[in-house]
Amino acid sequence: MELTLRQAVAADVAEIMRLERAGFAPAIQETEQTFAERLAAAPEGCWVLAGEAGRLFGYLCAEFWPQQAGFDAARFARDHGAASTHRADGEEVYVSSMVVDPATRGTGWGRRLFRGALAAMFARHARLRSTILIVNPGWDAARRIYRAEGFTEIGEIAGYFDAGAGASLPAIVMRRAHT
Ligand SMILES: CC(C)(COP(=O)(O)OP(=O)(O)OC[C@H]1O[C@@H](n2cnc3c(N)ncnc32)[C@H](O)[C@@H]1OP(=O)(O)O)[C@@H](O)C(=O)NCCC(=O)NCCS
Repeated sequence: MELTLRQAVAADVAEIMRLERAGFAPAIQETEQTFAERLAAAPEGCWVLAGEAGRLFGYLCAEFWPQQAGFDAARFARDHGAASTHRADGEEVYVSSMVVDPATRGTGWGRRLFRGALAAMFARHARLRSTILIVNPGWDAARRIYRAEGFTEIGEIAGYFDAGAGASLPAIVMRRAHT
């Protein structure tokens, strides 16, 4: 299948929400308001894989943060508002979320979306220096992509993901310096 990587626009939010519901358990899906705010506040960080007739097959959302040593766990709060955290002059990309349509998974589009969207951001914004993200220990496909793309684990946020029955899983924090 041929898909086009392009920057997202406000009209994509309904398709992004369809992908969000297909990508994550209800308890961790983010809201339409969160995505609408990302698209408005940080459009340079929002990218989609577009097919025919307006159908989307993947999205990646990111915002820019001031670079810091280590990380501040509070910044990764789910559904935080990009309008208050995105800094147009930030030096670090924070990849907040990525989903590929289940019908399209396992054929390399996840890796192409991740690599392509980040490459486009770094090509357009010369001040960017690094990329940071969090991942659930059980999200194997995502972890394969991040490791293969040069990310290393820099810490954990305990209790981040609800694992049911009163249990939780940490978020693994990963970072890659831009070379
Ligand atoms: C993560 C995700 C975007 C990857 O998309 P994808 O199109 O399946 O990715 P690719 O086809 O490029 O595969 C990436 C790697 O994961 C591997 N992989 C794919 N599905 C896998 C699975 N279910 N279990 C383990 N590895 C898997 C692939 O073999 C490939 O590894 P390789 O290149 O070393 O062989 C997609 O699985 C998804 O939307 N998951 C749900 C949401 C999510 O976890 N998002 C990421 C965290 S924000």
